[in-house]
Amino acid sequence: MKNIYLDNAATTPLAPEVLEAMLPFLENDFGNPSSTHSFGRKTKNAIEITRKKIADYIKAEPSEIVFTSGGTEADNMALRCAVADLGVKRIITSCIEHHAVGHTANHLKDSCNIKIDLVKINDNGHVDIEHLEELLKESTITIVSLMHANNEIGNLLDLKKVSLLCKKHNAYFHSDTVQTMGHYNFDLKDLDIDFITCAAHKFHGPKGVGFLYIKRNTQINQLITGGSQERKLRGGTENLYGIVGMGKAMELAYSDLEEHQQHVQELKSYMINELLKIDSSITFNGDIAPENSLYTVLNVCFPITQQSSMMLFSLDISGIAASGGSACSSGATAGSHVLASLPYSDKCQSIRFSFSRYTTKEEIDFALDKIKKLTTISA
Ligand SMILES: Cc1ncc(COP(=O)(O)O)c(C=O)c1O
Repeated sequence: MKNIYLDNAATTPLAPEVLEAMLPFLENDFGNPSSTHSFGRKTKNAIEITRKKIADYIKAEPSEIVFTSGGTEADNMALRCAVADLGVKRIITSCIEHHAVGHTANHLKDSCNIKIDLVKINDNGHVDIEHLEELLKESTITIVSLMHANNEIGNLLDLKKVSLLCKKHNAYFHSDTVQTMGHYNFDLKDLDIDFITCAAHKFHGPKGVGFLYIKRNTQINQLITGGSQERKLRGGTENLYGIVGMGKAMELAYSDLEEHQQHVQELKSYMINELLKIDSSITFNGDIAPENSLYTVLNVCFPITQQSSMMLFSLDISGIAASGGSACSSGATAGSHVLASLPYSDKCQSIRFSFSRYTTKEEIDFALDKIKKLTTISA
């Protein structure tokens, strides 16, 4: 049986070139980067070369990059350190953020008495910018935390527009860029943003490694206390091979970014058109206009039939890995908090298909064929 992976928003396969770049550091170059002898100097050097390489890709300074264990830690560090070290008393965020942000904000509300204001989400899943501006008028010291692309529905946020608003109202701005790093160009010299986050496993790098970008002159302290690694900003022996792998994954991602974007966007548009040919009553969660939507994510709303609740399972049995998400908001069964915030998603069966540079048209055709059979059976 063929196995087709259409769940790249959850994680992506490691690129062979990344594995190759990591191997020497798993085999021979094992020195602790904090050791002052030659073994340590060699691995420290590899880390610093990678930091510079990553900073160059996003037009930042190496000193603005702190390596972390991934997106969750980076999001935690931005929000928790903004509260602990920058005097932040209020977080403006939305109800469709990843739990790394949503749960952290709620924890800060309970443990540090931080005020949380949720910006409204429009019917198509976009942040209501006018409401954001309204909320920003309050003079409390604030951090805005809004994700660049939603991991479930793919909606994109205009980072430039939000950063200008935050600047105008003297608010800090953090954006979870976990789904877009390695998929879009970033120019942090141009974009006035205080914190962005990255997880290498979303662009064919290894799991368990990422980074937090901290705009220069933003004086925060360690979240993970311990040794003096990462210029005293993150204690703990560095994930050496992970960091090297992330650097290689960035290099691959940005070496042919436009080609990769075009390839994946074409597959997504093709899948949209073919799905509508199978059943014209199929709709899509979020905004699917290419300029407003992450090209790697397509969240499909299948009409509810007797069999539709089994669709994800049936796809899995047929060798197709996608991701579910129900719009349950009762709290009894954990549903998707993102879909629950959209007005129509409880009236359909939602399945997220997400693509990568390795996804082929043949794989999409195979998935479409199975979907066609499943929707014909259940009609
Ligand atoms: C938008 C977003 N933020 C944060 C995370 C968490 O990243 P990590 O798995 O590296 O902790 C994810 C992972 O699914 C994500 O999609």
